[in-house]
Amino acid sequence: MKLKDIKQIKNLTGKRVLLRLDLNVPIEKGEVPNSGTWRLERAIPTIKYLTRKKARVIIVAHLGRPEGKVMSEFTMQPVCEKLSQMLGKTIEFWADDFSGYIQDSEEMSNGSVAMIENIRFYREKKNCKRLATRLSKLADIYVNDAFGNVHRQDASMHAITYYLPSYAGLLMTDEVNYLSKVLKTKKGLSVILGGAKVATKIKLIEKFSKMADHVCLGGILANTMLKALDYKVGKSVYDKDFLALAKRAYNAKKVHLPEDLVVCKNKKSKNCQTVEMDKIPAGMMSLDLGPKTIKKYLAEIKAAKLIVWNGPFGYFENKLFVQGSKSMMKGLVKLPAKVIIGGGETVELANQLKLSKEFTFVSTGGGAMLAFLQGNKLPSLERLKK
Ligand code: 3PG
Repeated sequence: MKLKDIKQIKNLTGKRVLLRLDLNVPIEKGEVPNSGTWRLERAIPTIKYLTRKKARVIIVAHLGRPEGKVMSEFTMQPVCEKLSQMLGKTIEFWADDFSGYIQDSEEMSNGSVAMIENIRFYREKKNCKRLATRLSKLADIYVNDAFGNVHRQDASMHAITYYLPSYAGLLMTDEVNYLSKVLKTKKGLSVILGGAKVATKIKLIEKFSKMADHVCLGGILANTMLKALDYKVGKSVYDKDFLALAKRAYNAKKVHLPEDLVVCKNKKSKNCQTVEMDKIPAGMMSLDLGPKTIKKYLAEIKAAKLIVWNGPFGYFENKLFVQGSKSMMKGLVKLPAKVIIGGGETVELANQLKLSKEFTFVSTGGGAMLAFLQGNKLPSLERLKK
């Protein structure tokens, strides 16, 4: 897929650029915690590129899901402060309705940066044309670098491209290039899918069991598959709406199921035990993959050329159940394959373990990465195509 990217813009001097970023990061006690800055880090190269070229940059982004209402807990202010610190440059925060800042956008000095308030305080989710028209008055050019949000057909992602010349940022281009390689891989692909979002991932099992040599499952996705195949899963969480689809997606040669599981009475319990996958006691729930499973998965994929991983194996909120994902991650970086990881918790774990740099590519997209890998057309991305 070839995108119109910012390097094709001949002269950026003095141009007002509306830069759409995905700055959807955690906020704790009114601040972005240090563990949550990875999306901000990845936004910086495009901001630097634009400011070096003397553009005037106006950042637009969303935080959380305020559903079209102004909600103080979703203000972009702390994100603006953190990004500004990390960039080493002031980012002026335009706190009130952005339409009041058109004059300010014209008076910005070349190479300076501003950020408007959370765009989801407005009719962003309605892909509202009036909102897009209002936004377009702030700028001469639109640049979309919000890969993590590219599966959303929102006003500042999609409608806006009808009102301003539109380009992809450096991160967007990188993400699309790396993930396109996955879709083109004909041999040597292995996929690891975990996490809780069964609805989107079930379809991927089916798709990848045709394209890949191995598909290894964890998390609620694995529980759903086990249940669909008539194993007794005790109190384990599974998605009953997708049992039929899971059964259809199962391919005994390629889809790998857990061999052992860490089970507990409930998610908060500290007393857990590891059992064979077909011996989950009736009153217990599976909350992580066991060591035999990790060993088996690593052995299955050891000859892979390209590995993609999205979604942790265990109940991530309780540190007791992160062990399976940790061992997998430590094992993965020792394999000769190229490895691409994505999804908030998977990336967070890689950062915690200081392993992010060991991977070929770390995607900033969770849902967006999966939507891209489904191979379907994403309307907001289509608008950036050459
Ligand atoms: C994300 O955090 O995955 C993206 O920013 C999309 O956010 P959303 O799921 O609230 O649309």
